[in-house]
Amino acid sequence: MKVELKLLPAEKRGRLTNQSNLPFGRIFTDHMFYMFYREGEGWQGACIKPYEPICLDPAAVVFHYSQTIFEGLKAYYGVDGRIRLFRPERNMARLNRSARRMCMPEVDEDFVLQALKQLVYVEREWVPKEKGSALYIRPLMMGTEAFLGVKPSAEYIFFIILSPVGAYYKEGFNPIKIYVTDKYVRAAPGGVGDVKTGGNYAASLMASEEAKKLVYTQVLWLDAVERRYVEEVGTMNIFFYFEDELATPALTGTILPGITRESVIQMARDWGLRVSERRISIEEVLSSAESGRLKECFGTGTAAVISPVGWLAYKGREYVINQGQTGPLARKLFEELTGIQYGSRPDPYGWIQFVP
Ligand code: COI
Repeated sequence: MKVELKLLPAEKRGRLTNQSNLPFGRIFTDHMFYMFYREGEGWQGACIKPYEPICLDPAAVVFHYSQTIFEGLKAYYGVDGRIRLFRPERNMARLNRSARRMCMPEVDEDFVLQALKQLVYVEREWVPKEKGSALYIRPLMMGTEAFLGVKPSAEYIFFIILSPVGAYYKEGFNPIKIYVTDKYVRAAPGGVGDVKTGGNYAASLMASEEAKKLVYTQVLWLDAVERRYVEEVGTMNIFFYFEDELATPALTGTILPGITRESVIQMARDWGLRVSERRISIEEVLSSAESGRLKECFGTGTAAVISPVGWLAYKGREYVINQGQTGPLARKLFEELTGIQYGSRPDPYGWIQFVP
């Protein structure tokens, strides 16, 4: 399949006027990638076209039963002026893994990655140049068949949109405050907690709104069975640096397998740290915060990058980690990861792909 180019003339294109303090996910570029699928026919109609609203039948499956999956990755403007993608092949593989779980058609990973690069190249003027900002890339697939019975859709659309972004949290690289909920759960074993599907995020809204009212930036989820073991933050995976061990919850099916998570584990192991993927109880975290055994806590994600956590609230008490300061490990990981992403440091793992 070829990607048809339906591009706006130069005089109709917008541009990024102010590059500093970019909001997250509110500005969109001029073009999008689009293709559709019909059962028995496969994916077709691949094109890069002007960014525009999508017209769907009110009976479309996605509206009623949420058959939808997405991805999130970024294009970085490098110190040498070249545009870099960070491990995009991992996002493509995760997209197809999500598709299988949600009974949706897989895509040709190489084809979609090439199309994504072509789109970023078309929109290269939109990649912000300030360090810390990037062009956020959002691929999304949804079931569009007009049918009210509950079954996998026979029709789908897939698109990629782009958004120049700054930091995800208003705190930037400063420690955030997190609320640990034992009232709500995000995902249960056997469910779709390890899939990047919209419903997981909708299900998290009530807890985050309640946390925000108490001035906490995000919610830390506990497991659904015992409400005891730490899972993830919903927009990021979570790490705890206990004395000589960097620990993160194991991927047991209820946690999103983050690409930043995977990269942090690899870098920390290569630096000689003992890294464990295991069950971590909230009691262990809080008693370690009190005794000082917990040296640091931070989240990892594409949008959030490395996000230090300075405070955890649980059952009406607030626990301070590292005096509410960014710790040296979080800083070192942040510097190394962003150094690779922006090209100011070598890429020993071959994680970078260039555009074009
Ligand atoms: C990402 O980090 O790319 C995500 O998908 C989190 C998002 C929901 C903001």
